[in-house]
Amino acid sequence: MLILNKTGVFSKLSKRKIYEFLISFNFYPGKLFLHKLVLGIETSCDDTAAAVVDETGNVLGEAIHSQTEIHLKTGGIIPSVAQQLHRENIQRIVQEALSASKVCPSELSAIATTTKPGLALSLGVGLSFSLQLVKQLKKPFIPIHHMEAHALTIRLSSKVEFPFLVLLISGGHCLLALVRGVSDFLLLGKSLDIAPGDMLDKVARRLALIKHPECSTMSGGKAIEYLAKQGNKVHFDFIPPMQRAKNCDFSFSGLQNVIDKIILQKEKEEGIEKGQILSSAADIAAAVQHTTACHIAKRTHRAILFCKQRDLLSPSNAVLVVSGGVASNLYIRKALEMVTNATQCALLCPPPRLCTDNGIMIAWNGIERLRAGLGILYNTEGIRYEPKCPLGVDISKEVGEAAIKVPQLKIMI
Ligand code: KG4
Ligand code: ZN
Repeated sequence: MLILNKTGVFSKLSKRKIYEFLISFNFYPGKLFLHKLVLGIETSCDDTAAAVVDETGNVLGEAIHSQTEIHLKTGGIIPSVAQQLHRENIQRIVQEALSASKVCPSELSAIATTTKPGLALSLGVGLSFSLQLVKQLKKPFIPIHHMEAHALTIRLSSKVEFPFLVLLISGGHCLLALVRGVSDFLLLGKSLDIAPGDMLDKVARRLALIKHPECSTMSGGKAIEYLAKQGNKVHFDFIPPMQRAKNCDFSFSGLQNVIDKIILQKEKEEGIEKGQILSSAADIAAAVQHTTACHIAKRTHRAILFCKQRDLLSPSNAVLVVSGGVASNLYIRKALEMVTNATQCALLCPPPRLCTDNGIMIAWNGIERLRAGLGILYNTEGIRYEPKCPLGVDISKEVGEAAIKVPQLKIMI
C-alpha cells in the first residue's frame, strides 16, 4: 500500500480499477501483491533448510531437515555424509517450504542462498540447486553470507536499528561484530581456534554423555547445560582462557585440553575406562559451563566498552544481540545479562528456533538486501561458493591495541 499512499493516484479508485491498472503493468496481485517475497535456502553445514519470508518479516512457510542425530552417532560431521544428506533432502525441503507458504514460485521476488562460509561440499548442494531454480523461474539470485544472516535475524523479530553489537556463538562460529548496515560489519574479535559449541560437544563426547540416560539425544552443549544443573562448579577450578590478552578474541582449545587431562585423571582415580560415565561428570559440566560463560562475558564486556569509547554505539540505545546455538544456554545468557546491566546495554536474543541455522534467516537477509538494493544478481555466471570468508572489516588488532581493562564482574549465578 506504500505506493498507493505516496502517489495518491489510487485514493479514489475502486479495488477493481487498481487491479486492472496493475494488470496493465503485468502485476498479478495475490494476497501479498505489493510485498517482496524471498525464498531462502540454507545448506552451509548440517541443516537443509528453506523458508519463504515477506518484506514485513512474516514467515509464510518453512521447512528444515536436521542431520544432528546422524552426526551424533559418528561423533562429528563427515562432510561427504552431510553432502549426501543435503542432496537427498533439498528438493523436498524447498517444496515443503513453498507449499506451506502458498506462494506460487512465479510470485517470488528473488531466491537467496547461503554461498559462504561453510563446508564446501554442503554449500555446493544448495548453490547448484538454487542456480537451477533461478534459471528455471527467471528470478534474481541473492548470494548470502551465513554470518551476516545470523547477525541480522534479530531485525525480523524486533525493531533494532543500526548500529548494534552482535555476539555469535555456536558449534561453528564465535565472533563479536559491530553491525552498521545490511552489509557493513566491523569484526571486533573471533575465536583463534575452535568455537565454544565445538568445545562443549568435544567435552560431552569425552564424558560419554551420549550414554547418559537423560542426555543421549541432546547436543553436547545442551547435555552440558542439563548436567551442570546437578553439579557443583567449585569442585574444579578451570582458569578462563586469554586472561592477559586485552582484546576481544576467544580461545577454547586450551581449555578443552585442560578438561581432557582432568577427565583422564578422574578416570584413573575412579578406576573406570574411557567411555564410562564419571561420578564427577556433573561437577565437570558445571565448571566447564561456568568457565565458558566467564570467558565469553569478559570478551563481550570489552567489546561494549570499546564501542562506547569510540562512539560506535548509540549512548542512549546501545544493543547487544546474542545468537547461535550456544546462545540458548541460560547460564551463559545470565552472565551476559550481568555484563549488559553493568554497561547500560539492552540484551536481545532471537527466539531459539532463529538462533540456530535455519532458512528463515537466509530469506530475511534476502529481503534486507532487496530493500537496500545490495548484492542482487540478474546474471549468475561465474558465481562460486566460498568455504572461507571473513565477516566485514577486521579491526580486532585496533581493539587489542586499545588494551581496555575490563572491571571485575563476579559471575555469580
Ligand atoms: O547454531 P547451531 O545450531 O549450529 C552451528 O554450529 O552452526 O549450534 C549448534 C551448537 C552445538 O555445538 C551445540 O552443542 C550448541 O550449539 N548448543 C548449546 C546448547 N544448545 C546447543 N551449547 C550450550 N548450551 C546449550 N543449551
Ligand atoms: Zn550458523
